[in-house]
Amino acid sequence: MFAKTASSFVRLVSAQDAEAAIQALPDAQRGLAARFTGKPGQIVLLPGDAEVAAWLGIGSGTDVFVLGHAAKTLPAGDWSIANLPDGWDPTLCTTAWALGGYTFDRFKPAGIELARLCPPAAADTEDARRIAEGVMLSRDLINTPADRMGPEGLEAAARKLAERHGATVSVVTGDDLLTQNYPMIHAVGRAASEAPRLIELEWGNPDHPRIALVGKGVCFDSGGLDIKAAAYMRLMKKDMGGAANVLGLAHMIMSAGLNIRLHVLVPAVENAVGAGAFRPGDVLDSRQGLTVEIDNTDAEGRLVLGDALTKAGEHDPALVIDMATLTGAARVALGPEVMPFYTDDNELALDLAESGITTADPLWRMPLWEGYDRWMDGSISDLVNGADTPFAGSITAALFLRRFAPSSAPWVHFDIFGWNPKDRPGRPKGGESQASRAIYHMLKKRFLD
Ligand code: BES
Ligand code: MN
Ligand code: ZN
Repeated sequence: MFAKTASSFVRLVSAQDAEAAIQALPDAQRGLAARFTGKPGQIVLLPGDAEVAAWLGIGSGTDVFVLGHAAKTLPAGDWSIANLPDGWDPTLCTTAWALGGYTFDRFKPAGIELARLCPPAAADTEDARRIAEGVMLSRDLINTPADRMGPEGLEAAARKLAERHGATVSVVTGDDLLTQNYPMIHAVGRAASEAPRLIELEWGNPDHPRIALVGKGVCFDSGGLDIKAAAYMRLMKKDMGGAANVLGLAHMIMSAGLNIRLHVLVPAVENAVGAGAFRPGDVLDSRQGLTVEIDNTDAEGRLVLGDALTKAGEHDPALVIDMATLTGAARVALGPEVMPFYTDDNELALDLAESGITTADPLWRMPLWEGYDRWMDGSISDLVNGADTPFAGSITAALFLRRFAPSSAPWVHFDIFGWNPKDRPGRPKGGESQASRAIYHMLKKRFLD
């Protein structure tokens, strides 16, 4: 992923500094840079025997991810960065460069040779590597289509990760979900050809504080009997984005050896249409004991997460984190680049907000607004899985989850998108890890030595 030594240097030039940089070039080279304005991603090659072989425009200099341009647009070879702008964290720069080199090449060769970075001396290269590996794992899992990444494929991915880190995996599958009391996971997944399951991965010293990571693993979300229209179904292979994120995050945690007892829980299902599918109006039992009337079979993520959150709470966790592609409403609120999170723990919220800024992994706290909590009350059941109003869909989904989250431990919920709709530097179009780098940073602060 990284070069040990570099043969060429790239200089980072902001828009503000572009003119002066051009003027300072030797006469023979000035013409090559004539059109350089320093806009983000702009590259000038400066052949000759000068130390600096290329410039990379960094615009206003506020987005470290501009370095993501380098991997695919600089000529192949091993590069060093000649100058790190003030305030740019060398480890984050290294991570951003590496993330820009990603292509999902499972079905078609990428056909590019990458420019590799020789990380700045001040960078923690091993940390950049484990972060980039975790992100790329999440991306690969999301990008892999549902015909190859159903509940079985997701289980295989969890087992592979566990093997790599000496973690243990246990899985409850199919009708065993009923006998072991996961009624909602079973109901959502039972119509699909691959059996629903709850995948659990455990790792680390049992004496360390137990952190639960719960990820929505809906391998394909057709909507169920309340079937989605084509345009809304098109990307639903990514509805296991929460699971992909917690597995990528687990990779970072385990390879860093954080002082954590890790408990990953992934309810893995396909929300399919079939004769056995759960229906609008059905009333489900849940592991928590609460009854849930189904208003809409497309609000399936909160159901499978509900049972998994209850299970997480049974092991005396110190912190419970869930990640899920839970609502379209989260995108209406914040769009595809900023991830909302919900928690009643103010200190945790501040830590996360700060971590999001430090890691350029944008987060925004949203309210668990008490006034809307009763919208999730049922008339013939404890709860409904959808409110009968179009307002505040991401908040009401979070409030639904809170009824299943343990009351004994802090809990935080991320309503993520899991996808880049367009190519951006370091963030190629397709499956994306979101919030995981920020969470990892927060956990490192709390649980490293
Ligand atoms: N997986 C979807 C949410 C989603 C849609 C996430 C598009 C990202 C992009 C989820 O299962 C869903 O369908 N939610 C419904 C809930 C509604 C029926 C209460 C939604 O958001 O429309
Ligand atoms: Mn759905
Ligand atoms: Zn869904």
